[in-house]
Parts: sequence; structure tokens; C-alpha cells
Amino acid sequence: MTSGSAAGRWGTTEMRETSWGDRGEHDKHVQQSHRMVIFAAILVLMTLLILYGSNNTSEAVYAPFHMATNHALKTTDLKKWSGNDGYVPIHGNKNMTLRCHNCALVTSSSHVLGSGAGEEIDAAECVIRMNDAPTIGFDSDVGNRTTLRVVAHSSVFRVVRRPNEFLQRSDSNPVIIFWGPPNKIGKDAKGTLYRLIQRVSMTYSNLSCFSITPIKMRRFDSLFHRETGRDRQKSHSWLSTGWFTMVTAIEICDNIKVYGMVPPNYCGKKNASKKMPYHYYKPRGPDECLTYIQNESSRRGNHHRFITEKQVFARWAKQYNITFTHPKW
Ligand SMILES: *[C@@H]1O[C@H](CO)[C@@H](O)[C@H](O)[C@H]1NC(C)=O
Ligand SMILES: *[C@@H]1O[C@H](CO)[C@@H](O)[C@H](O)[C@H]1NC(C)=O
Ligand SMILES: *[C@@H]1O[C@H](CO)[C@@H](O)[C@H](O)[C@H]1NC(C)=O
Ligand SMILES: *[C@@H]1O[C@H](CO)[C@@H](O)[C@H](O)[C@H]1NC(C)=O
Ligand SMILES: *[C@@H]1O[C@H](CO)[C@@H](O)[C@H](O)[C@H]1NC(C)=O
Ligand SMILES: *[C@@H]1O[C@H](CO)[C@@H](O)[C@H](O)[C@H]1NC(C)=O
Repeated sequence: MTSGSAAGRWGTTEMRETSWGDRGEHDKHVQQSHRMVIFAAILVLMTLLILYGSNNTSEAVYAPFHMATNHALKTTDLKKWSGNDGYVPIHGNKNMTLRCHNCALVTSSSHVLGSGAGEEIDAAECVIRMNDAPTIGFDSDVGNRTTLRVVAHSSVFRVVRRPNEFLQRSDSNPVIIFWGPPNKIGKDAKGTLYRLIQRVSMTYSNLSCFSITPIKMRRFDSLFHRETGRDRQKSHSWLSTGWFTMVTAIEICDNIKVYGMVPPNYCGKKNASKKMPYHYYKPRGPDECLTYIQNESSRRGNHHRFITEKQVFARWAKQYNITFTHPKW
């Protein structure tokens, strides 16, 4: 994984590919899953027909992940979802007590470029960023304050390599939350990654570094299951840093304004044909819609479900006063 992305290996499983249906051991379930397979096959066929029917220029077929429609999706009250026990300090005995009225959540998407939103972002009470997304050189579009940075284990090296960029140009007491498999970033981890995080945490005394506890990592999984009807591991899905960041933002912020996130239906044919880099700081990097669509429709191996995640965000937006700008939705 090269990009400063979400690429989490958390929960990689050795399970072989299976159908989406319930893998029931009992006969009645077998009958049921037959019906489901047929239903799914018809659905896929229809999707293909519709897509091909309206498709003159050849393009990757977009077979969406599909949230389970046969489940009654339960919505979780994220405000009460979890106490402070979800985060452990990397060093010392600080508690994760960050709370804000107004937050600006700045995505890493190239949709922020040209927005001129820098000053507006910096005027927010708290500014939230992800992974190694820089501010230097992009101030006018993304601002230059950082209150909270949510960092995937796979991005740790990139963040600590340039501490001036990520750690000092921040509010006076910035917070970093690291997420990842407990054996890599957990308290009991003994690896290089954890030692590196520890060293940074000790060196920069203004910085409050936390890692997400194993219990909370499992809660993120069950949240995905409840909100999409899909078991994360069985569906070979990886959660993205965007998912962790959105949930964390809802926990700590009363209002959230999101910069640069496209709506779930954005990557249709028309919009997808316009190339937009996945990361604003990598103009020659992969295309955003292509990355979303390929991940969403991949069945072999583990993949992100960026589009499904955004469908969930759209629901949360109504519940938690989340607004989206650049693009607006
Ligand atoms: C953190 O929270 C615990 C339990 O709520 C409390 O006992 C402890 O004093 C707090 N630590 C700091 C540094 O505030
Ligand atoms: C960035 O920070 C500097 C102060 O260091 C400030 O003068 C400037 O207005 C900021 N730029 C933007 C676009 O927010
Ligand atoms: C650390 O915090 C103190 C007090 O909050 C502040 O004066 C100082 O500028 C901060 N240092 C950095 C590097 O942010
Ligand atoms: C929702 O958030 C926006 C800004 O993000 C704010 O202007 C508005 O007052 C908030 N509404 C409520 C009901 O809190
Ligand atoms: C393009 O994106 C807009 C939202 O920004 C969406 O309403 C529209 O359906 C998309 N177009 C296609 C063809 O997917
Ligand atoms: C899935 O997304 C990641 C970025 O998180 C990207 O590196 C990877 O190439 C994508 N996979 C596919 C099949 O597009």
C-alpha cells in the first residue's frame, strides 16, 4: 500500500471468498440461502444489464457492494456509543477529553483544491485531519491549524518522518489518535511502530497521543455490521481512516462541517470520467472515483467500502448535524 490512506490491515482474515448469503449449517438455511443466491444473481444480472444498456463508452462495470437490504438496519446513538475507555494514552496518563462545538473535518481528497476554504477552516473551533495530509503549501484551501489528527497504523511512518509539518504547526495542544490492529499499535505491542509512536509522544510534550483500544476496535466492527448489515470480516472489508475519523468527530463535536467529501452517488459515469486525484497532495496519484469503485466492487482479498461508508455518513448527517461542502450536499 503506497498511499497515505486508510489502508488498514486490521482484521485481515484467511477466510475464502463466500457469497453474501448467510452461511447457515442447517437445512432450512440451505434452502433459504439458495433463494438468496438466486435473488443475488438476478440482482447482479439486472445491474449489469442496466449498466451495459446505458453504456456506450466502455468503462469499468460498477458493481456496488450493496448494503444488506433484508436486514433491519439499526442505528446506533454514537453520542452515547462509547466512553473515554475507547482510547489509551501512548505515554503518561492523559485522558481523551477533547470536546468541541464546531468542527471542520478536512478530507484528503483533491476536491478541496481551489476551494479557498482555508480561512473558514481555521476559524472553526476544532480542525480535524487525517493521516499525513499536509497543510504547508495548501493553506489557502485546507487551512493551517490542526486540533486532531486521526492516523492509520500504515501512515505512522509518514507522519513521524516530518514532525515539523504534522506536529508543530498545530494548536497548542493537538491530539493524535492512532488506529490499527492491537498487535501493532496497542499498549502491549512491542514492535517498531509502537516504539516510534511512544518516542514521538515523549518528545513532543504538547502532543496528546492515544491509540484506540482493542475493545473499541471491535466496536467499530460491530458498528459497521449494524449500519450496513454486513459482517466486516466475512465481507472482506477494511474500514477506512475516513470511517474512524467520522465516528470520532461525531463523538467529540456538536456540529461538523466536512470539506472535500463527495456524496455516495457521486462516482457515477459522468462524474467518474473527470479525473480527480484521490489525495490533494498527490496530484499524480490514483484517481478518486476509480479507487472508490474498484475497492467497492472487489470481492477477492480485502477492500475498502468507501461508497458504502458514505451511504452511512449520509444517514448520520441527518442525525448529527453534519454538513458537506466542496462539494456541497
Ligand atoms: C483520567 O480519568 C480517570 C477516570 O475518570 C481519572 O481517575 C484520572 O485522574 C484522569 N487522569 C487525568 C490525568 O486527568
Ligand atoms: C496560516 O497561518 C498564518 C500564521 O502562521 C496566518 O497568517 C495565515 O493567515 C494562515 N493562512 C491561512 C490561509 O489560513
Ligand atoms: C506548547 O503549549 C504551550 C502552552 O499551551 C504553548 O505556549 C507552546 O507554544 C506550545 N508549543 C508548541 C510547539 O506548540
Ligand atoms: C449545525 O451546524 C451548522 C454549522 O456546521 C451550524 O451553523 C448550525 O447552527 C448547527 N445546527 C444545530 C441545530 O446545531
Ligand atoms: C454526479 O454527482 C452528483 C452529486 O455531486 C450526483 O447528484 C449525480 O448523480 C452524479 N452524476 C452521476 C452520473 O453519477
Ligand atoms: C483501494 O483503495 C486503496 C486506498 O486506500 C488503494 O491503495 C487501492 O489501490 C485500492 N484498490 C483498488 C483495487 O482500487
